[in-house]
Amino acid sequence: FIILLAGYPVFSQNYDEAKVPHYTLPDVLKTASGKTIRNEEKWEKLRRPEVLKLFEDHVYGQMPTDYDSIRYALTEDDGADMAGKAVLKQVGITVFRKGNSVQINVVLFIPTQAKKPVPVFLLINNRGKENTDPTRAKKSEFWPAEMLIDSGFAIAAFHVSDLAPDNKDTYMTGVLQKLYPEQLRKDNGMKAIGAWAWGASRVMDYFETDRDIDAKKVIVVGHSRGGKTSLWAAAQDQRFAACVTNCSGNTGAALARRQFGERISRINTTFPHWFSNNYKKYNDKENALPVDQHMLIALIAPRPVYATNASKDLWADPKGTFLALKAAEPVYALYKIQSGLPKDPPGIDKPVIGSHFGYHNREGEHDMTVYDWGNFIRFARKF
Ligand code: GCU
Repeated sequence: FIILLAGYPVFSQNYDEAKVPHYTLPDVLKTASGKTIRNEEKWEKLRRPEVLKLFEDHVYGQMPTDYDSIRYALTEDDGADMAGKAVLKQVGITVFRKGNSVQINVVLFIPTQAKKPVPVFLLINNRGKENTDPTRAKKSEFWPAEMLIDSGFAIAAFHVSDLAPDNKDTYMTGVLQKLYPEQLRKDNGMKAIGAWAWGASRVMDYFETDRDIDAKKVIVVGHSRGGKTSLWAAAQDQRFAACVTNCSGNTGAALARRQFGERISRINTTFPHWFSNNYKKYNDKENALPVDQHMLIALIAPRPVYATNASKDLWADPKGTFLALKAAEPVYALYKIQSGLPKDPPGIDKPVIGSHFGYHNREGEHDMTVYDWGNFIRFARKF
């Protein structure tokens, strides 16, 4: 083991609350020119674009949205899925730019009985494709389609590999080389997580054309690296009605400045293909970042956000996730929205489904389970 590590930087993680350094979060309400934002108009006009640009330039990279055309190839079954409870649509989304194209494959189940158009949960699938099996031969807790259909929601998914392989050597072979090669030459260029979020927006483009789907009620869901992506997608694309970020941890919903569990230096070293080149400047320099992750959540305001953790997943810093939601509250307050969260993190398996924020810390490991989904459904029903 030691031999394997030779030549590589050795990282140490802090899991001790007493060793969390003292830190001051950047003020989400203070503009670059030092003005304090006091209402939603000024937030949307002045500060929100500034914060979005800071995340583009320093963390996730740019989000190009121009393309020449988009085509949808739809295969719809006869409505006999799940014992007649659902219709399965498989959609091939092809996006063209400058003579090149990429294809995103979407699996979508729509409840037969529900009144149309229906709200939909869209999962950014960062795990095996079998998790979103359209044949339902495999039924994974990661995407419990039957449970969502029984609850009256449509459920959709696409796989991240359609946009960018999750691999540091090949990540550029998808949307980056094919549609936006110029991004690869910029220090604030989009990388894999940006490409995955871009894909979520193209699925949103499709939803806007599907009359069975209520495109104003699309909840974007992601787990872990997918949960970092769901936050970035919802921050960028205000058409998403709500965001679920499950165990998203570092550069997801957890505060970087706490330096608890995974740190920026570690994520940038193990996964150099996720974030922009510029983000590498903040290795071991969390306090130099002009943002922290509460500001990413704030970009989603006034839309609802549900964040989760798992008790054994200290790597993703459960407390730092709760504190990031709390630190985003001032932006929701501009819209006269209370988060509904208590002052301190709730206990294990004690979901808080507040006004616009939901949070729970599930007993167990880093994963997304039917326990998590059950709470997302409860949360979605509130809105
Ligand atoms: C690694 C990584 C995390 C990430 C996780 C996952 O543990 O360090 O940042 O969230 O993988 O995607 O499951």
